[in-house]
Amino acid sequence: MTGEEYREISRKYKVLVENELDRIRNCEALSIQPKLRDAMFYSLEAGGKRIRPCLLLAVCEQFGGDVEKALPFACGLEMIHTYSLIHDDLPCMDDDDMRRGRPSNHKVFGEAMAVLAGDGLLSYAFETMLNAAVKNGDTGSLLTAGEIARLAGAAGMVTGQAADIEFENSENKTEAMLAFIHRHKTADMLEAAVVSGALIAGADGGDIEKLRRYSEKMGLLFQITDDLLDYTGDPALMGKTLHKDEAQGKLTYVTLLGLEGAKEAAKATAEEAKAQLEGLRDPGFLAAVIDNMLERSN
Ligand code: IPE
Ligand code: IPE
Ligand code: MG
Ligand code: MG
Ligand code: MG
Repeated sequence: MTGEEYREISRKYKVLVENELDRIRNCEALSIQPKLRDAMFYSLEAGGKRIRPCLLLAVCEQFGGDVEKALPFACGLEMIHTYSLIHDDLPCMDDDDMRRGRPSNHKVFGEAMAVLAGDGLLSYAFETMLNAAVKNGDTGSLLTAGEIARLAGAAGMVTGQAADIEFENSENKTEAMLAFIHRHKTADMLEAAVVSGALIAGADGGDIEKLRRYSEKMGLLFQITDDLLDYTGDPALMGKTLHKDEAQGKLTYVTLLGLEGAKEAAKATAEEAKAQLEGLRDPGFLAAVIDNMLERSN
């Protein structure tokens, strides 16, 4: 698959997801306190690459699944990711003022409402996904809700965020600890996306194991490039505050290995990710994801 084909397919999935998020926002049954509702949708609709929902839909299609059935799960995952960003930016965490090209949620709505917007998005994600699981009535959909809960939750993304905070300014900076942080804070949510698409499509266990190994490497690559872009990225393209990891004493690939070391790690991880695709049907999109990540500027 060429880079242009990859971007075209990604755009198609992004439109599907954004239309569905709009529909959810306009849903009359959604009787949320007005300021809370504004805060939730301020961050959800601010844009973002939507890489997680796009991956979920792409993998579902790759394994012959029904994209319509998968769409509520793609939106749920994006709600969870958005909540994690709102909380990640809070003064008690990374204390960032910009996100997705706009002032961070707490800058506009205040800290209390930003915490609540995150809470609201997390619960609403599961409401959306579990209603879809009941409607779809298949095991794959139910397993997906459980999988997303596990990988987004206390032993998944939240553990990564806890370790990221715990190791700020720590003396004990090792590559093993760094890999642990990145694995959980970032790769777990990307694994949730890939594996969910496969589960909804009814993929077999062997393929799902391969996809897990691919996702672990792909997620690591995504966070290595995020660490690199904190140093080299253009704030206008990234839409978020940059040049802060070092000042905050964060354990990242750049603070541990330097810029050149981190670039080498990214290349090696990209190769490892692609190697996991061997034997999978139609791996074109997932291979293109890796190429795109290596070159990304946002
Ligand atoms: C940012 O995620 C948080 C990390 C895991 C590095 P994204 O880079 O996917 O952010 P959006 O969704 O495009 O805003
Ligand atoms: C955040 O990692 C990952 C999650 C939100 C789970 P970062 O703190 O590096 O993300 P950015 O750089 O603020 O987007
Ligand atoms: Mg952070
Ligand atoms: Mg951050
Ligand atoms: Mg970062």
